Amino acid sequence: MIYLNGKFMPIEEACIPVLDRGFIFGDGVYEVIPVYSRKPFRLIEHLNRLQHSLDGIRLKNPFSNDEWSHLLEQLIAKNDGEDQYIYLHITRGVAKRDHAFPQVPPTIFIMSNPLLPPPAELLVSGASAITATDNRWIRCDVKAISLLPNVLLRQMAVDVQAVETILIRDGFLTEGAASNIFVVKDKMLLAPPKSHLMLPGITYDVVLELAAANQIAHEVREVSETEIRAADEILLTSSTKEIMPITKLDGKPVGNGKPGTMFSQLHDLYQQYKATRMRGFSS
Ligand code: PDD
Repeated sequence: MIYLNGKFMPIEEACIPVLDRGFIFGDGVYEVIPVYSRKPFRLIEHLNRLQHSLDGIRLKNPFSNDEWSHLLEQLIAKNDGEDQYIYLHITRGVAKRDHAFPQVPPTIFIMSNPLLPPPAELLVSGASAITATDNRWIRCDVKAISLLPNVLLRQMAVDVQAVETILIRDGFLTEGAASNIFVVKDKMLLAPPKSHLMLPGITYDVVLELAAANQIAHEVREVSETEIRAADEILLTSSTKEIMPITKLDGKPVGNGKPGTMFSQLHDLYQQYKATRMRGFSS
């Protein structure tokens, strides 16, 4: 079951007019929210980021946080599975094709799919990534539905059986095509600072909070391409992949080529954090 413009319905019945600005211009924003034990994870943080994205494209938020929360609760209840991931998408609506903003209601679409943990094999052996020049626009802090550059960059990885493309802009790490990236050197966890050049990841925040709370040495600062290539460990984070070790970069082993101690520690802390959150909180 999905939600479209005020109604719940089976996805097969959902239709969008061809003049929807999401279809014509990619004019919209989205969120991906993991749901564990039927409870949205870090919901307020996701809704705050949604507000930031809507502000970035000058589109009014159609709902209050309480209304979003109630809507998501209903959608989760209508779908199978304890763990799900919500995909929430708002476009500027349906109007005659003209770049200028129309005065029409937005299109609001929400679906929920089963959330599967990353394959155990990738956590045990690690995953491969490649690097590429970050050729996206300079508002990567907006979670825009116009993802063509990300799609092309991610496909470069898929073409060589890698899981992600790590992006480098002007000699420095930004993020992955669909994830945030951390680098570990000499037991120090390094994270690029949030800016308009990367998506402020919700999982990225959790990892930095866990590092701070558990006396894990960490620094938020620019990470150079040289540092990426000399890393002891590289970690990928996202709402659907959680924390994943990258053990091969551009065909060469990262560090000793195996998932490292920083990965194991953060992965365990993340699983514990999820479990406590699900026991004690509703979001
Ligand atoms: N993508 N950077 C980019 C470009 C992303 O697309 C994502 C997530 C992230 C990680 O953010 P978070 O931890 O909040 O999921 C960083 C989602 C999962 C997607 O587009 O499917």
